[in-house]
Amino acid sequence: MAVNTRTPLIAGNWKMNLDHMQAVAFVQKLYWTLKEAGHDPQTVETAIFPPFTDLRTVQTLIDADKIPFALGAQDLSEHDSGAYTGEISGQFLAKLACGYVIIGHSERRQYHNETDEIVAGKVQAALRHGLSPVICVGETSEDLERFGASAVPVGQLEVALENVAADADIVVAYEPVWAIGSGQAATPDQAQEVCAKLREVVAAKLGEDAASRTRVLYGGSVKSSNIASFMREPDVDGALVGGASLLVDEFAAIIRYQKHVGV
Ligand code: PGA
Repeated sequence: MAVNTRTPLIAGNWKMNLDHMQAVAFVQKLYWTLKEAGHDPQTVETAIFPPFTDLRTVQTLIDADKIPFALGAQDLSEHDSGAYTGEISGQFLAKLACGYVIIGHSERRQYHNETDEIVAGKVQAALRHGLSPVICVGETSEDLERFGASAVPVGQLEVALENVAADADIVVAYEPVWAIGSGQAATPDQAQEVCAKLREVVAAKLGEDAASRTRVLYGGSVKSSNIASFMREPDVDGALVGGASLLVDEFAAIIRYQKHVGV
C-alpha cells in the first residue's frame, strides 16, 4: 500500500442556513478564530459549502482577505445551459472560483428524487467544468438492517464513477443516512469499514493510483468531541460536517482535531 499523502479535508455543508450577510460574519469569525489559535492551513484543508446566493459574496471575501478556505456549492445541474428553470450550471460555479461541489447528498436523493443515474450525470457535469465532485453515498437504517452497511453505498458509488477518468479529482463522502442530523454518529470502526470498501471501489473503477490519492470522508453527526476518533482511522481522510459547521467555535475545533489530546 502506498504512503498516505492525502491532505485531510474538513468540509462544512451549511445546507439552507446563513444568508450572504451572515456568511460574511461567519467566515471572518472562523478565519480569525483559527488564526488566533495558530492553525496551520497547510495541515488540514478547510472547505465551506454555503447556499448558492452566498457564493459570490464569500468568494469576494476570501479572495480579498486571502482567507485559506476552499469554496464549494451544495449541488449543480447535470446540464450546462438551457431551459432548466431554477438550476445552476457548473460553468457558473467554476466562474465563482468554486473548487468543489457536493453531489448526491441524501437530502437531494430523498427530497428531490435524485437517482444514482442523475448523480452520475452531475458528477460528469462537475468534472467537465473543473470542479471536484464530493460524491455522497450512504445507507438508510432500513438498508442497514436488510443489506448491512456497505452494500448500498458501494452500489451508489459504482454508478457515480461510471465513465469517470482515472485521473479525475474526486472526493467521496460516506454518510449513513441514519447518522445525519440525528446526533447518533457511526462508530469509528463502522466508518473505517465502509470507507475502506469505498476506496476499493475507486481502485476497481479508476485504478490503484486514484484510490491512494482520493480522499474519503465520513459524515453524519460529526462534532468536536468525536472527530479525532474518526480521523485516527486509516481510510477516513476527513469529514463532511452539517450542523456543527454552523457554529464557529465548534467548527474551528473540528478543523483543529490534530491538536486534540491523544491524537
Ligand atoms: P450533520 O450533517 O453533521 O448535521 O449530521 C452531515 C451532512 O448532512 O452532511
